Amino acid sequence: MNGQVAARTTTWHLALGRLGDSQCTPLCALEVEGWRSTAEGGGAHGCRVWLTALPRSRPRLLRRSSAAHNHKEDRALNDDLPIRYIEPVYRPPSEADSLILPVTDGCSWNKCSFCEMYSPPHKRFRARDQAEVLTSIRLCGERLGDSVRRVFLADGDALALPTRSLMGYLSAIRQHLSAVRRVSSYCLARNLRKKSLQELRELRDLGLERVYLGAESGDDTVLARVNKGETFESTREALDKLGAAGIRRSVMILNGLGGVALSRLHAENSARLINATQPEYLSTLVVMLADGGARYRERWPDWQPLGQDGLLAEMEMFLSALELRRTIFRADHASNWLVLKGTLGADKARLLQQVRAAITRPEAAPLRAAWMRGL
Ligand SMILES: C[S@@+](CC[C@H](N)C(=O)[O-])C[C@H]1O[C@@H](n2cnc3c(N)ncnc32)[C@H](O)[C@@H]1O
Ligand code: SF4
Repeated sequence: MNGQVAARTTTWHLALGRLGDSQCTPLCALEVEGWRSTAEGGGAHGCRVWLTALPRSRPRLLRRSSAAHNHKEDRALNDDLPIRYIEPVYRPPSEADSLILPVTDGCSWNKCSFCEMYSPPHKRFRARDQAEVLTSIRLCGERLGDSVRRVFLADGDALALPTRSLMGYLSAIRQHLSAVRRVSSYCLARNLRKKSLQELRELRDLGLERVYLGAESGDDTVLARVNKGETFESTREALDKLGAAGIRRSVMILNGLGGVALSRLHAENSARLINATQPEYLSTLVVMLADGGARYRERWPDWQPLGQDGLLAEMEMFLSALELRRTIFRADHASNWLVLKGTLGADKARLLQQVRAAITRPEAAPLRAAWMRGL
């Protein structure tokens, strides 16, 4: 690494503390290349991230901002893990302490017009070879022992795997990583269509404690325009099934997805979906489109993005319409302009007050700088 890149990397480590809040953070960063395009708002995917999956109970290699940071040493430690990664790998921010275990590569759907996370050819969807995954679990057990408390099954929708394969992995985690208390993964509503409630309960009993499901919107027109391949009803059904099985649901909604024209419907119907399903966790991200949204507009030519004021107004409509009993809410993903955290409904009035203050006096609000935003 030359000196210039090293200096840039150091700058980015300062930023990554914030980026570490993101809902779907590329695992962690040892080096970031091409940062300029991201820093200048050049796109959500302007940075290339080297990854590590060391749980925090191992030495914390990441988010150091020191110029003395030894990347070679970090890389060597990371290479020590008996797990094969195909970059980029995404995981939710709340899985920062987890061992990231790929059981698939890519996303089994991979057709949402806003999402390019798994579009590179080398991220084409496939199930990992079972023997390879089982060997990784066994070797992780030998090398990391009781230091692993949480495991995140990657990649984009690990629940696409047949129940039998998932049960095999969960059992192996139990056997070799006996200190693990929580296993989680991303999940699409369609992943559950062929899985019975009984099967989901068995997965829960074997340790699958939580899934992250990108509902994105509760509005059927928006969902069709972005090619999510789901509807209000199919998403509701999946969330209810997970809830009935005792698996905790963390739902993602995309602020701005409906653009100017469908903003109100998107906000109101998304709130209706969340109210109907009462998930344990809810997070909002702001849609960020690469290539200035060219790919997105292929399916939705007259889509007009919301500006910062429109995004905040949509958030105000969404929060106002939420009627939740006990849902942990986070709008702390790096794509958000305004960071919001609380429990709904208890904190609804405070959260609304924060959004309204940012709408009326944006210059006084703690808004994230544009260059700090990313996916
Ligand atoms: C890594 S993806 C995997 C989630 C899973 N495949 C699903 O769709 O439920 C996690 C989330 O990233 C978000 N995401 C993807 N592309 C995005 C974009 N261009 N802008 C903002 N958020 C995006 C979506 O909310 C998506 O659900
Ligand atoms: S299902 Fe999820 S990961 Fe797959 S393309 Fe859509 S948002 Fe991206």
